Amino acid sequence: MRLILLGPPGAGKGTQASAIVKKYNIPHISTGDIFRENIKMGTELGKKVKEYMDKGLLVPDDIVVSIVKDRILKDDCKDGFLLDGFPRTVNQGEALDKELSNMGLKLDKVINLNVEKEILIERITGRRICKDCGATYHIKFNPPAKKGICDNCGGKLYQREDDTQETVEKRIEVYQQQTKPLIDYYTKKGLILNIDGSKAIDEIFEAIVKALEG
Ligand code: AP5
Ligand code: ZN
Repeated sequence: MRLILLGPPGAGKGTQASAIVKKYNIPHISTGDIFRENIKMGTELGKKVKEYMDKGLLVPDDIVVSIVKDRILKDDCKDGFLLDGFPRTVNQGEALDKELSNMGLKLDKVINLNVEKEILIERITGRRICKDCGATYHIKFNPPAKKGICDNCGGKLYQREDDTQETVEKRIEVYQQQTKPLIDYYTKKGLILNIDGSKAIDEIFEAIVKALEG
């Protein structure tokens, strides 16, 4: 199954992606995670993308597209994949279509998580992430058993640098201007599954599975 997970910052893409890839046994490709990993390792790519991410701006299309192209050509993607945070512009969507068509493949579905702005801000500013395994928590909505410590691996939790109130507002604005047009793009192709992302984590997952299989 070849899937895209679309939605504004804080919509719950990463949270739902973890459950979806487990159920369907496909790789989770998050461009945000790839960039954060490169920043942590101090690579050339990491240095290039950091300035955009810190400001809440999109990384230029050519950089993102070439990374995703390489990634979906890998062996583990031959039976499908879940793209999380990509595409983010119509230009990226068109580049993906072209690449898939060259490979003789097509997308199955685009899951679009809808969530209001006020909820997004509360979710993002309360988010905490495990520095060792990457698991995502929320101080109010999805807290770990022990404050500041990951349930899975005992790692310390941290806050993403771009999760400040100011940067979140910018990221939401960028989403409205540059990413939202993709909803129309994929609706016209008949691929969109609209999901209410304001419910509880389990309920959203159930709705996604039902929409994919129904
Ligand atoms: P990226 O890492 O993709 O971030 P994002 O799109 O801003 O999305 P988030 O990771 O903030 O949110 P999410 O939807 O995954 O929510 P989560 O599940 O964590 O991108 C970061 C940056 O990288 C961009 O700004 C850009 O600079 C660059 N970039 C990446 N891809 C790019 C591309 N294609 N082109 C150009 N630039 C690119 O949930 C959020 C919180 O809410 C968590 O704490 C979670 O526990 C909680 N939560 C989740 N679901 C629920 C629920 N149902 N109820 C209550 N709480 C919930
Ligand atoms: Zn952990």
